[in-house]
Amino acid sequence: MLNEILLLAAAYLLGSIPTGLLLAKAAGVDIRTTGSGNIGATNVYRTLGRSVGIATLAGDCLKGFLPIIAAKYLGMADLWIALAGLAAFLGHVYSIFLAFKGGKGVATALGVFLGISPLAVLISLGIFIAVVVASRYISLGSIIAAAAMPPLVAFLDGRPPLVAVTVVIASIVIFKHRDNIARLRAGTENRFKA
Ligand code: G3P
Repeated sequence: MLNEILLLAAAYLLGSIPTGLLLAKAAGVDIRTTGSGNIGATNVYRTLGRSVGIATLAGDCLKGFLPIIAAKYLGMADLWIALAGLAAFLGHVYSIFLAFKGGKGVATALGVFLGISPLAVLISLGIFIAVVVASRYISLGSIIAAAAMPPLVAFLDGRPPLVAVTVVIASIVIFKHRDNIARLRAGTENRFKA
Protein backbone atom coordinates (compact mmCIF):
# COMPACT_ATOMS: atom_id res chain seq x y z
CA MET A 1 0.00 0.00 0.00
CA LEU A 2 2.90 2.36 0.80
CA ASN A 3 4.35 1.87 -2.71
CA GLU A 4 0.97 2.66 -4.23
CA ILE A 5 0.57 5.87 -2.18
CA LEU A 6 4.13 6.95 -3.04
CA LEU A 7 3.48 6.35 -6.73
CA LEU A 8 0.31 8.46 -6.61
CA ALA A 9 2.22 11.31 -4.94
CA ALA A 10 5.06 11.05 -7.49
CA ALA A 11 2.56 10.93 -10.37
CA TYR A 12 0.78 14.05 -9.10
CA LEU A 13 4.08 15.93 -8.72
CA LEU A 14 5.26 14.81 -12.18
CA GLY A 15 1.92 15.86 -13.69
CA SER A 16 2.22 19.22 -11.95
CA ILE A 17 5.38 20.16 -13.89
CA PRO A 18 4.08 22.68 -16.46
CA THR A 19 6.05 21.66 -19.55
CA GLY A 20 4.63 24.34 -21.85
CA LEU A 21 5.03 27.12 -19.30
CA LEU A 22 8.69 26.19 -18.70
CA LEU A 23 9.56 25.80 -22.40
CA ALA A 24 7.89 29.11 -23.23
CA LYS A 25 9.62 30.78 -20.30
CA ALA A 26 12.96 29.56 -21.67
CA ALA A 27 12.02 31.36 -24.89
CA GLY A 28 11.22 34.52 -22.93
CA VAL A 29 7.42 34.25 -23.11
CA ASP A 30 4.77 33.92 -20.39
CA ILE A 31 2.45 31.55 -22.25
CA ARG A 32 -0.41 32.47 -19.87
CA THR A 33 -0.53 35.97 -21.35
CA THR A 34 -0.54 35.08 -25.06
CA GLY A 35 -3.02 33.40 -27.44
CA SER A 36 -5.66 31.48 -25.52
CA GLY A 37 -3.62 31.82 -22.31
CA ASN A 38 -3.52 28.02 -21.97
CA ILE A 39 -0.22 26.33 -21.03
CA GLY A 40 -0.81 23.40 -23.40
CA ALA A 41 0.80 22.32 -26.67
CA THR A 42 -1.80 24.02 -28.90
CA ASN A 43 -1.15 27.46 -27.45
CA VAL A 44 2.62 26.91 -27.32
CA TYR A 45 2.52 25.88 -31.01
CA ARG A 46 0.37 28.92 -31.81
CA THR A 47 2.75 31.26 -29.99
CA LEU A 48 6.23 29.76 -30.44
CA GLY A 49 5.96 27.44 -33.41
CA ARG A 50 6.08 23.78 -34.29
CA SER A 51 9.18 22.50 -32.47
CA VAL A 52 8.33 23.98 -29.05
CA GLY A 53 4.69 22.94 -29.53
CA ILE A 54 5.68 19.35 -30.28
CA ALA A 55 8.13 19.31 -27.35
CA THR A 56 5.28 20.47 -25.06
CA LEU A 57 2.99 17.77 -26.45
CA ALA A 58 5.65 15.09 -25.89
CA GLY A 59 6.51 16.27 -22.36
CA ASP A 60 2.88 16.55 -21.24
CA CYS A 61 2.03 13.20 -22.81
CA LEU A 62 4.95 11.47 -21.04
CA LYS A 63 3.72 12.82 -17.69
CA GLY A 64 0.56 10.77 -18.13
CA PHE A 65 2.18 7.72 -19.70
CA LEU A 66 5.09 7.10 -17.28
CA PRO A 67 3.05 6.64 -14.06
CA ILE A 68 0.81 4.07 -15.79
CA ILE A 69 3.86 2.17 -17.04
CA ALA A 70 5.49 2.37 -13.58
CA ALA A 71 2.32 1.04 -11.89
CA LYS A 72 2.12 -1.83 -14.40
CA TYR A 73 5.85 -2.58 -14.04
CA LEU A 74 5.45 -2.74 -10.25
CA GLY A 75 2.61 -5.23 -10.68
CA MET A 76 -0.04 -2.99 -9.11
CA ALA A 77 -3.75 -3.76 -9.31
CA ASP A 78 -5.94 -2.12 -11.97
CA LEU A 79 -7.34 0.33 -9.41
CA TRP A 80 -3.87 1.70 -8.64
CA ILE A 81 -2.90 1.81 -12.32
CA ALA A 82 -6.01 3.89 -12.94
CA LEU A 83 -5.38 6.14 -9.92
CA ALA A 84 -1.74 6.71 -10.97
CA GLY A 85 -2.95 8.01 -14.33
CA LEU A 86 -5.62 10.13 -12.66
CA ALA A 87 -3.06 11.61 -10.24
CA ALA A 88 -0.76 12.64 -13.11
CA PHE A 89 -3.69 14.12 -15.04
CA LEU A 90 -4.92 16.07 -11.99
CA GLY A 91 -1.37 17.34 -11.47
CA HIS A 92 -1.39 18.87 -14.95
CA VAL A 93 -4.85 20.39 -14.63
CA TYR A 94 -4.54 21.49 -10.97
CA SER A 95 -0.77 21.93 -10.60
CA ILE A 96 0.71 22.34 -7.14
CA PHE A 97 3.33 24.61 -8.74
CA LEU A 98 0.70 26.95 -10.24
CA ALA A 99 -1.54 27.48 -7.21
CA PHE A 100 -3.74 24.59 -8.39
CA LYS A 101 -4.31 26.09 -11.82
CA GLY A 102 -3.05 24.38 -14.97
CA GLY A 103 -3.86 23.22 -18.47
CA LYS A 104 -6.83 21.56 -20.14
CA GLY A 105 -5.25 18.13 -19.85
CA VAL A 106 -5.48 16.89 -23.44
CA ALA A 107 -1.84 15.80 -23.90
CA THR A 108 -1.54 14.33 -20.39
CA ALA A 109 -4.84 12.48 -20.90
CA LEU A 110 -3.41 11.19 -24.19
CA GLY A 111 -0.43 9.75 -22.26
CA VAL A 112 -2.70 8.13 -19.66
CA PHE A 113 -4.97 6.67 -22.34
CA LEU A 114 -1.96 5.39 -24.32
CA GLY A 115 -0.92 3.47 -21.21
CA ILE A 116 -4.45 2.14 -20.71
CA SER A 117 -5.54 1.26 -24.26
CA PRO A 118 -3.34 2.13 -27.28
CA LEU A 119 -5.99 0.80 -29.67
CA ALA A 120 -8.66 3.09 -28.21
CA VAL A 121 -6.21 5.99 -28.61
CA LEU A 122 -5.56 5.06 -32.23
CA ILE A 123 -9.29 5.18 -33.01
CA SER A 124 -9.78 8.38 -31.00
CA LEU A 125 -6.78 9.94 -32.76
CA GLY A 126 -8.41 9.14 -36.09
CA ILE A 127 -11.57 10.92 -34.91
CA PHE A 128 -9.48 13.89 -33.68
CA ILE A 129 -7.66 14.22 -37.02
CA ALA A 130 -10.90 13.96 -39.00
CA VAL A 131 -12.58 16.68 -36.90
CA VAL A 132 -9.55 19.00 -37.04
CA VAL A 133 -9.10 18.55 -40.80
CA ALA A 134 -12.80 19.24 -41.38
CA SER A 135 -13.16 22.16 -38.94
CA ARG A 136 -9.61 23.41 -38.23
CA TYR A 137 -10.59 23.64 -34.54
CA ILE A 138 -8.12 21.76 -32.29
CA SER A 139 -10.45 22.33 -29.35
CA LEU A 140 -13.42 20.70 -31.10
CA GLY A 141 -11.23 17.74 -32.06
CA SER A 142 -10.02 17.43 -28.46
CA ILE A 143 -13.57 17.55 -27.05
CA ILE A 144 -14.97 14.95 -29.46
CA ALA A 145 -11.91 12.67 -29.13
CA ALA A 146 -12.17 12.88 -25.32
CA ALA A 147 -15.90 12.05 -25.45
CA ALA A 148 -15.12 9.02 -27.61
CA MET A 149 -12.64 7.52 -25.12
CA PRO A 150 -14.99 6.11 -22.40
CA PRO A 151 -17.08 3.99 -24.80
CA LEU A 152 -13.92 2.88 -26.63
CA VAL A 153 -12.15 1.81 -23.41
CA ALA A 154 -15.36 0.16 -22.14
CA PHE A 155 -15.68 -1.82 -25.37
CA LEU A 156 -11.99 -2.64 -25.98
CA ASP A 157 -10.80 -3.17 -22.37
CA GLY A 158 -13.74 -3.20 -20.00
CA ARG A 159 -11.86 -3.29 -16.67
CA PRO A 160 -14.07 -1.16 -14.34
CA PRO A 161 -11.30 0.98 -12.73
CA LEU A 162 -9.85 1.85 -16.13
CA VAL A 163 -13.25 2.65 -17.62
CA ALA A 164 -14.15 4.75 -14.56
CA VAL A 165 -10.95 6.79 -14.69
CA THR A 166 -11.43 7.33 -18.42
CA VAL A 167 -14.91 8.74 -17.73
CA VAL A 168 -13.52 11.08 -15.04
CA ILE A 169 -10.59 12.29 -17.18
CA ALA A 170 -12.69 12.79 -20.32
CA SER A 171 -15.30 14.72 -18.30
CA ILE A 172 -12.66 17.05 -16.84
CA VAL A 173 -11.06 17.60 -20.28
CA ILE A 174 -14.46 18.65 -21.66
CA PHE A 175 -15.21 20.82 -18.60
CA LYS A 176 -11.82 22.57 -18.99
CA HIS A 177 -12.79 23.44 -22.58
CA ARG A 178 -15.83 25.48 -21.46
CA ASP A 179 -14.30 28.76 -22.70
CA ASN A 180 -13.51 27.08 -26.04
CA ILE A 181 -17.10 25.80 -26.22
CA ALA A 182 -18.38 29.35 -25.64
CA ARG A 183 -16.07 30.64 -28.41
CA LEU A 184 -17.14 27.81 -30.75
CA ARG A 185 -20.78 28.73 -30.17
CA ALA A 186 -20.01 32.41 -30.75
CA GLY A 187 -17.97 31.64 -33.89
CA THR A 188 -14.86 33.28 -32.39
CA GLU A 189 -12.72 30.19 -31.66
CA ASN A 190 -9.12 30.20 -33.02
CA ARG A 191 -8.70 28.06 -36.11
CA PHE A 192 -5.59 25.91 -36.42
CA LYS A 193 -2.94 27.17 -38.83
CA ALA A 194 -0.32 24.55 -39.79
O1 G3P B 1 -5.25 21.12 -25.92
C1 G3P B 1 -6.07 22.19 -25.71
C2 G3P B 1 -6.80 22.48 -27.02
O2 G3P B 1 -7.84 21.58 -27.20
C3 G3P B 1 -7.31 23.89 -27.07
O3 G3P B 1 -6.23 24.77 -26.79
O4 G3P B 1 -5.09 26.94 -26.65
O5 G3P B 1 -6.96 26.62 -28.31
O6 G3P B 1 -7.47 26.72 -25.88
P1 G3P B 1 -6.47 26.34 -26.90
